[in-house]
Amino acid sequence: MGYKDVYTAWKEDPEAFWMQAAEAIDWAEPPSKALFDENAPLYEWFVDAKVNGCWNAVDRHVEAGNGDRIAIIYDSPVTECKSQISYKQLRDQTALLAGALQSKGVTVGDRVVIYMPMVPEALVAMLACARIGAIHSVVFGGFASNELAVRIDDAAPKAIIAGSCGIEPNRVVPYKPLLDEAIALASHKPDFCVILQRPQAPADMTEGRDYDWHQIQAEASPAPCVPVAGNHPAYILYTSGTTGQPKGVVRPTAGHLVALNWTMKSIYDVDPGDVYWAASDVGWVVGHSYICYAPLIHGNTTIVFEGKPVGTPDAGTFWRVIQEHNVRVLFTAPTAFRAIKRDDPKGALLADYDISCLKTLFLAGERADPDTIEWAQSKLGVPVIDHWWQTETGYAIAANPLGIEALPVKIGSPSVAMPGWDVQILDEAGHQVPAGTLGAIAVKLPLPPGTLPTLWHAEDRFRKSYLEHFPGYYETGDAGYVDEDGYLYIMARTDDVINVAGHRLSTGAMEEVLASHPDVAECAVVGVTDKLKGQLPVGFLCLSKGVDRPAGEITSEVVQMVRDQIGPVAAFKQALVVDRLPKTRSGKILRATMVKIADGEEFKMPATIDDPAILDEIAEALGTLGYAQTK
Ligand code: COA
Ligand code: AMP
Repeated sequence: MGYKDVYTAWKEDPEAFWMQAAEAIDWAEPPSKALFDENAPLYEWFVDAKVNGCWNAVDRHVEAGNGDRIAIIYDSPVTECKSQISYKQLRDQTALLAGALQSKGVTVGDRVVIYMPMVPEALVAMLACARIGAIHSVVFGGFASNELAVRIDDAAPKAIIAGSCGIEPNRVVPYKPLLDEAIALASHKPDFCVILQRPQAPADMTEGRDYDWHQIQAEASPAPCVPVAGNHPAYILYTSGTTGQPKGVVRPTAGHLVALNWTMKSIYDVDPGDVYWAASDVGWVVGHSYICYAPLIHGNTTIVFEGKPVGTPDAGTFWRVIQEHNVRVLFTAPTAFRAIKRDDPKGALLADYDISCLKTLFLAGERADPDTIEWAQSKLGVPVIDHWWQTETGYAIAANPLGIEALPVKIGSPSVAMPGWDVQILDEAGHQVPAGTLGAIAVKLPLPPGTLPTLWHAEDRFRKSYLEHFPGYYETGDAGYVDEDGYLYIMARTDDVINVAGHRLSTGAMEEVLASHPDVAECAVVGVTDKLKGQLPVGFLCLSKGVDRPAGEITSEVVQMVRDQIGPVAAFKQALVVDRLPKTRSGKILRATMVKIADGEEFKMPATIDDPAILDEIAEALGTLGYAQTK
């Protein structure tokens, strides 16, 4: 069956489609049906099943006689360490950590925050939670204490599992002081912490609260897998929304298992045993789905890579990893390839390696620009497949399903809607627009299994953010169009979310930090185009009356504040002091116009603008940073 047949089969009978996909999962009690729509427009899947995520990702492969197969390859150029963990070893380590958590009172439904660098123990921690029905919430290491504290308060974890440090190419980042500060800042206090001591920066332990990872594992008895209900949350993953308060995306256990497993063959075209490498971080959804869960559920070997595409030690690192570990599929963000291309434009380092094992490169997380795709195609000589998805969905909405049928690649498009997804382009009034017309990208409800059923303890926000604007649809927050062949084109976000090096960030959250500076009366943050990272934030500050300190002092202070309060990952390094911000007559800041000015693009003078002269002032200020150059 080709793509069209599979898509049509799904559309005609979604229930049968997903029940069939569910057969690949080991159920403690199988589901009686797939979709539960009693609470529409809130939908759930496989609710009456009993299942365990860790069993499906780990134990069942051991039971099937594949215990010696390598589950995780750890490759860390920043520490010069490499190791391998078989499925059997992974089961044993996971069961012991789960036993340790259980012995300290963690039980089904309790939350556990995980703040770890890219080491295999991050996966062990996630799986240990899944094993006993605890709900993990992984926080990316590049977030600072304040962001961690916000997540601790929202998730209210019983325990926190952390590494003592992370390692960036130019520095060791001690995580433990950040964790201690976050716990001090948060109103909610965890019962205990488990710390993985790393030799690069061992942590001071707080007596009675902090336990050493290896010590508690050594003292624990292995815990068996605890089956949970199909709609039990496997995890909460916080992602940026319009405000400083992140959204806690909930991932339901059963749908997640069924859908992720389906994608491994259908989209990525890998078979059990193949080596699959998602070069991302466990702190992001790509890391959850495609470093941890999907490859393991499907019986693949996954790679935990602690390094960067460049500088660890050079732009040939990816090729070394591919050759050395026999990688069949590489999945990363376009930024990673832009960084490699910048350092080694001719791809000269490829000559040092044999990467003939690589069959496909998948890209996602941000718009894949044609230059980068073409460069990767020509240098690697394999198909380069863009696919589009979001933290909320957990896997691809649109892709080129190589395991079903390799469709022609159209550069600039992540291809077509996958089975499960009825993607439509809508105008402001919610009517479908013709092919080729730009509009809001929406998905007809219900969303398929594994997608977010709600936001953690924020059902109203879930409804408001995703369901209310277009009744009967999920609003993706992206704008774009579909061509006559059904290929999607993702053009821009419709909200204040920006994408920096494949990392999703909220300009609203940055504005909240800037606004808290005592000398700042008003501010705006916009995402301007950047050749390497896709977008970069730039802040605009209007100072309070009477402030006569040098602008440079204040801009340095706000840059430091964003770094301290959100984290280095925000990449907030540029701020400008301006007299006024451009606004509509009703007072709305014209952020989109500011972006166009910064990018040197033509723009229509907004009809409702209060004072057009301000735009010249903004252009002049941006010019001092090298932006606003006419193309
Ligand atoms: N812990 C602590 N700090 C971290 C961190 C972590 N886990 N991850 C990133 N940071 C810091 C970096 O050190 C950097 O700090 P700096 O301002 O002192 O230099 C800052 O956060 C920005 O990091 P990053 O976005 O990684 O930028 P970079 O300039 O170090 O590297 C790339 C640029 C393109 C190489 C890098 O962004 C990259 O590999 N991107 C791939 C995209 C990706 O994996 N996306 C995930 C979603 S698929
Ligand atoms: P995240 O939730 O961090 O995965 O970010 C999701 C957002 O990243 C999407 O809503 C898009 O704006 C953007 N995005 C992800 N993949 C793509 C892609 N292939 N093409 C264009 N934009 C993408």
